[in-house]
Amino acid sequence: MQNFVFHNPTRIVLGRHTIPKLRKLIPSGSRVMLAYGHGSIKQNGVYDQITQALNGFETIEFSGIDPNPKYEQLLPGLELIQKHRIQFILAAGGGSVIDAVKWLAAAALYEGDPWDILTGQYSVKEALPIGTVLTLPGTGSEANGNAVISRIEPLAKRSFYSPAVFPRFSILDPETTFSLPKHQIANGVADAFTHVVEQYLTYPVGGHLQDRLAEAVFHTLIEQGVQAVESTDYEIRANFMWACTLALNTLLSMGVPGDWASHQIGHELTALHGLDHARTLAIVLPSLLREQKDSKREKLLQFGDRIWGIRSGSESERIEQTIQAVEKFFRSLGIGVRFSEYDLDARTTPQEVANRLRSQGSTAIGEHNDITPDKVQRILEAAA
Ligand code: NZQ
Ligand code: ZN
Repeated sequence: MQNFVFHNPTRIVLGRHTIPKLRKLIPSGSRVMLAYGHGSIKQNGVYDQITQALNGFETIEFSGIDPNPKYEQLLPGLELIQKHRIQFILAAGGGSVIDAVKWLAAAALYEGDPWDILTGQYSVKEALPIGTVLTLPGTGSEANGNAVISRIEPLAKRSFYSPAVFPRFSILDPETTFSLPKHQIANGVADAFTHVVEQYLTYPVGGHLQDRLAEAVFHTLIEQGVQAVESTDYEIRANFMWACTLALNTLLSMGVPGDWASHQIGHELTALHGLDHARTLAIVLPSLLREQKDSKREKLLQFGDRIWGIRSGSESERIEQTIQAVEKFFRSLGIGVRFSEYDLDARTTPQEVANRLRSQGSTAIGEHNDITPDKVQRILEAAA
């Protein structure tokens, strides 16, 4: 196992009727900005619960944050923070709202060009404190220090990480997920599943406990996650929600290598075509596993055996069956795994993505730094 330091400062409050608890979790007397998206929280009662809990706090609102939040759209939020001397930001929504708030919290304390945070020119050292009320499980953003922000001009989807933007707390009331359309639940399951894959399917380093923890999350997502798409049973939604948090709260990545190439490639597909994050992963991941099957051989065989019960046939047959099991899993969620299933142009997109990665200097990605733009193009061409 590789050396590691594990520190996750986010307090997770999971359970029914837990939103009122935010009142005690935000430092009293803080001037608060409540940030949210396009109004789902107004329809499902989350907004009312939050505003009631914030009664007595000086509060302003910043709403209309888009899925795949746009830099240009967040700049007015930054002005509001400065104007009202906001001391705490509360995000209510899914990964997009939470990521937007992380970026706002960091940009508020940075005097330079706020885009520097996303180019890596500035590495975030401090941020305003934030908290979240999660309404869409999947990204894990409620308990990590990552944020992904898009830009319209020039077209981009970039991420940053900083320990300073871990939420102080996240409230996970599984009942808030009852209003989600099925395809968003499916997205959450597919995204969380891929997060576990990116941390598990690399090469063995003796991280046996990490493997077993990851396998527990896989099994839960395959069992409870798939059921969650069809069912609003509270226990199923609670298990799904917690599994998504554990998939990317940094625990599974301790002591083991990470891949993350599917995510890097997927972000470019979203930037170019606006495709939902999870759906980009379903296109990229199976094809990437095929391309990388030699360097991932041992973990692919273990994954096939322990998760999918694939134990007979030659090694290469078992690996192919395992990758097909992943495709079948995405399809069981109603998520396509080929460009053709999305009406995307498979002739031009692979090269465009490869060129975009090249121009960003992302020329050697994956756990072995051996995925070049040429390889990315091959991976995407094979997913036509
Ligand atoms: O705009 P609102 O009203 O919030 O509606 C949202 C949005 O339309 C809706 N929604 C959320 N909760 C709901 C609900 N509708 C009904 N009932 C509810 N309870 O769902 C739609 C999608 O929301 P969004 O936040 O965009 O989805 P998701 O959570 O999948 O977030 C995607 C973003 O997260 C990034 C992605 O790249 C993408 O930008 N990611 C962030 C990560 C992180 N910070 O660690 C890791 C991930 O790999 C991912 O990259
Ligand atoms: Zn993801």
